[in-house]
Amino acid sequence: MQINVKAHAKINLTLKVLGKRADGYHELETVMQTLALHDVVTLTPRVGEITLGVKGEAPAGKDNLVYRAAELLQQYTGCRQGAAIVLEKNIPMAAGLAGGSADGAATLWGLNKLWNLGLKPQELLILAAQLGSDVPFCLQGGTVLARGRGEKLTPLPDAPRMGVLLVKPNFGVSTAAVYQGFASVKPTKRPDAGAMEQALFRQDPVAVAAELANDLEYVTLAMFPQLQRIKDQLHRAGATGVLMSGSGPTIFCLTPVGESKQLAENLNISDAQVIATTTFQPQINC
Ligand code: C5P
Repeated sequence: MQINVKAHAKINLTLKVLGKRADGYHELETVMQTLALHDVVTLTPRVGEITLGVKGEAPAGKDNLVYRAAELLQQYTGCRQGAAIVLEKNIPMAAGLAGGSADGAATLWGLNKLWNLGLKPQELLILAAQLGSDVPFCLQGGTVLARGRGEKLTPLPDAPRMGVLLVKPNFGVSTAAVYQGFASVKPTKRPDAGAMEQALFRQDPVAVAAELANDLEYVTLAMFPQLQRIKDQLHRAGATGVLMSGSGPTIFCLTPVGESKQLAENLNISDAQVIATTTFQPQINC
């Protein structure tokens, strides 16, 4: 038996930092949305050991979340089975798109099946939170309000289907450094998850675009002023609803479905990867 699991990217439609906690993490309120863009994790049974092969750009070593997810499952269940895992990367790394987290979530879900472990969704979500703040959302997917450090999930009305154009500059950012920098910025447009929820409920893409806001954008833009140029270029090309995702540095904009490729052609951006995708609602939620 071989199992293929799609590991979907995400964007944050809103991201509000509520404060720093005693454990060093930041308390969040964020509306997250799954994208069609995905990696593929292929799992094949193997006696004893876990091996990881990577097609594309990602670390193949033991700090890859795929590997850590497999080891965590073995530790938690005492399972002695192994797996040959192949990761096909399409989601840019260190981009604010939760690519690594999606791979970790897909591995938890897939190995639970491959190894016949019978873990319930609730157990998988607890293991996911141990791997990283975005991993529980990646396991669940869809349109979700996440609180706590990102692990407390409440499903929201599905976002209207929209085109999403991603612009990922040719550098990554450290999530920890961006959160650290939050203390020294004063965001002017604060995210309003309630207003975003209303916009989603009304299936109103114009209102969704109007409510986009991310507290961390102020930090990453101060660190990398070239991001403002990308935002300006998107606006000049006619985009509305332009925002940084997560801790960045990817800038996204929302478009009517089928129009993001055309927008990409109107852009004159060098030193960045431009990817046209759409919002996506998974059929099988955790
Ligand atoms: O949970 P994860 O390992 O993805 O987080 C990476 C880093 O981002 C953390 O070590 C922390 O510095 C920062 N972070 C935070 N508050 C969150 C999520 C992440 O401060 N809610």
